[in-house]
Amino acid sequence: MDYRKDFPILEQTVNGRPLVYFDNAATTQKPMAVIEALTRYYLTINSNIHRGVHHLSQLATEEFEAARRTVQRFIHAPKPQEVIFTRGTTESVNLIATSFSQRFIHAGDEVLITEMEHHADLVPWQLACERHSATLRVLPFHDDGTLALEQLDNLLTDRTRIVAVCHVSNSLGTVNPVEEIIRAAHARNIPVLVDGAQAVSHIPVDVQQLDCDFYCFSGHKMYAPMGIGVLYGKEKWLNEMPPYQGGGEMIKNVTFEKTTYNELPFKFEAGTPSVGDVIGLKTAIEYIEGLGCDAIAAREQELLQYGTEQLGTMEGLRIYGTAPHKSAIISFNINGLHPFDVGTLIDQMGIAVRTGHHCTQPVMTHYGIPGTIRASFAFYNTKEEVDRMVEAVKKAVAMLR
Ligand code: ALA
Repeated sequence: MDYRKDFPILEQTVNGRPLVYFDNAATTQKPMAVIEALTRYYLTINSNIHRGVHHLSQLATEEFEAARRTVQRFIHAPKPQEVIFTRGTTESVNLIATSFSQRFIHAGDEVLITEMEHHADLVPWQLACERHSATLRVLPFHDDGTLALEQLDNLLTDRTRIVAVCHVSNSLGTVNPVEEIIRAAHARNIPVLVDGAQAVSHIPVDVQQLDCDFYCFSGHKMYAPMGIGVLYGKEKWLNEMPPYQGGGEMIKNVTFEKTTYNELPFKFEAGTPSVGDVIGLKTAIEYIEGLGCDAIAAREQELLQYGTEQLGTMEGLRIYGTAPHKSAIISFNINGLHPFDVGTLIDQMGIAVRTGHHCTQPVMTHYGIPGTIRASFAFYNTKEEVDRMVEAVKKAVAMLR
């Protein structure tokens, strides 16, 4: 089936060649349905929510809250009030790292993350540890990109207050065994935050089955607009945590002496939210559900396997991240060549990939490299596009050698 017609942006040429868009881990393209939902919102119901008695405000509020229920259904959250809208994964993690830490992390405590975390699930924890005189501990990974789970038990101590782990690594593609990590942490009553930014549109996510305490993701990596994200949190934690930001709908009552806070989810949604983008996220979820999460995953796995085979034929090419369970991300380098040079040359041939450290500098340090070339696939990509990338990389290598 040809879904490409839903994504007009893919029809353009770049540097005189048809665009091959392989930077989907950075952001996916948006289908017409999402673009039309945004346009319809601004053309017909743009209004602030939860505040006005007027017709448009009521319509906008209804659609906003319907979107919350759509997200709830999509990730199988037990209750809509456990779905908090944020600006993206980064803001979701910062919210938890700030608010959870304020209540639960004290001097001498520990936070456990992994060596493959995106900076967005690393730096907020570093900041929290600095603020509360706690220690950041790190679960390493093996050279193939699998987590060193055999070290987990030793790293979970009676001082560990939270574990934060990515569901899928954005630079290695590894799908982590988060269920196992959550079980081990829960056996010691330690909550777990899962950074689902690279997982949520690629593999079906069920937060109840995972039993994670927090799950964070961004809309823009799942065909929705930029600037909208989600924090799922178990009600019992969210109720115990202080607000993250003040203002707007997060209050119940304000006096100069004392402010009381609104109930969930509003306690964590200060200020005017990005209503149109929330509606765009709802449309993106409906689009994904229309295709089927399993069908998306199967198609992307086909591309991953084909891309891995084709790149594997190239002499001197090394793939970083060869875990048995991977998402459709291939990070690679070619012996002796800087990833930036290869990326720049293949861009001249219309191929869009990301080069660099992918906001995971410790992963690059692990391998002793400055960065990688990263091709990340979405279901709308094709094997012909993979062939074009391989051909372009070969040309680039010939030019650089
Ligand atoms: N986190 C995004 C990426 O991996 C931006 O490219």
